[in-house]
Amino acid sequence: MTTQVRPYRGTDEAGLVRLWNASMIYDRINVTVLRTRVLLDPNLHPDTLLVAADNGGAPAGFVLAIRRRVPLFLQGLEPELGWITAFGVLPERRRQGIGRRLFAAALDRLAAAGCRTVLIAPYTPNYFIPGVDPDAYPEAMKFLEKLGWEQQAAPVSMRAELTGFQIPLEVEALAQRLSSEGIEIRPVTAADLPDLMPFIAETFSWDWYRFAQEYLLELFGRGADDLCFLVAVQGGRIVGYCQQRRERFGPFGVHPSLRNQGIGRVLLFRCLADMLTKGFHCAWFLWTGRDAARLYEMAGFHTVRRFAVMRYVVP
Ligand SMILES: CC(C)(COP(=O)(O)OP(=O)(O)OC[C@H]1O[C@@H](n2cnc3c(N)ncnc32)[C@H](O)[C@@H]1OP(=O)(O)O)[C@@H](O)C(=O)NCCC(=O)NCCS
Repeated sequence: MTTQVRPYRGTDEAGLVRLWNASMIYDRINVTVLRTRVLLDPNLHPDTLLVAADNGGAPAGFVLAIRRRVPLFLQGLEPELGWITAFGVLPERRRQGIGRRLFAAALDRLAAAGCRTVLIAPYTPNYFIPGVDPDAYPEAMKFLEKLGWEQQAAPVSMRAELTGFQIPLEVEALAQRLSSEGIEIRPVTAADLPDLMPFIAETFSWDWYRFAQEYLLELFGRGADDLCFLVAVQGGRIVGYCQQRRERFGPFGVHPSLRNQGIGRVLLFRCLADMLTKGFHCAWFLWTGRDAARLYEMAGFHTVRRFAVMRYVVP
């Protein structure tokens, strides 16, 4: 039987979703997710969503590789970067060289298009997980190490129970102190937008801009009661913000010149308290570094998954 590595075809849809869910068992999807976050991603090129299939048969392995074909706002095309955001081989077809062939084909195509560094998997906006979860996918870690990939970062995903959540007295006192120093933390208004959007793009990133824009389009468009968007304002200028929709918290950030004064803590605790009043009894997010994790721990968050962001440098 010959197993062919070839680009994805429309008729592979059901087989690919089955394969994805049988291999990326902690990160299952349905056809809607495949259609909206993969097939309708303007950066998807059919040449780099590859499947390995026996003649006429359903896919036994796949790899989803991406490079930017449209710029992410002013962050541009990042032409030297490529990403692999998902991959897997059916359990009964592992250790037959299928993963190796899929990766060789995907990396060849990315390299031919000019990518020098390939990352698993922090591709914005349509990443599924920040990197490989070594607890969920130990085989993937062994496979990638064998193929010459190295770990670049180790973000974590965290979650907090909100049942009974209260803002501690010291955080209330902190909010009062900030207020006496002219720093107010309050829900966003439309009047904040001219200052807020450039603040986010310049202080953080175009990806955070995109993320904030998505929630604000809902808030100021048809209206939304499942999200909270707070700003910290000093002397009429935005100095921090925080966003949440349903159980998903973040991102949130404070201007670098005003960090370590408790603004982030007040934003976080106020937002969590607001979430509980809306009926959300837990809060989670997918991705933070070690420093911010300490702040989250103060609010009762604990690590639920860890990830290895993996990097491959094209030789
Ligand atoms: C990771 C994965 C795709 C590997 O696919 P595969 O087809 O079995 O890989 P290959 O047969 O091409 O392996 C290539 C080499 O990687 C190494 N390797 C692969 N799996 C390994 C394992 N379980 N233990 C040790 N080494 C392994 C071996 O050196 C292997 O070569 P060898 O068999 O000649 O020794 C597969 O294990 C899988 O689907 N895992 C679950 C899905 C997943 O983790 N996805 C990533 C989520 S971020």
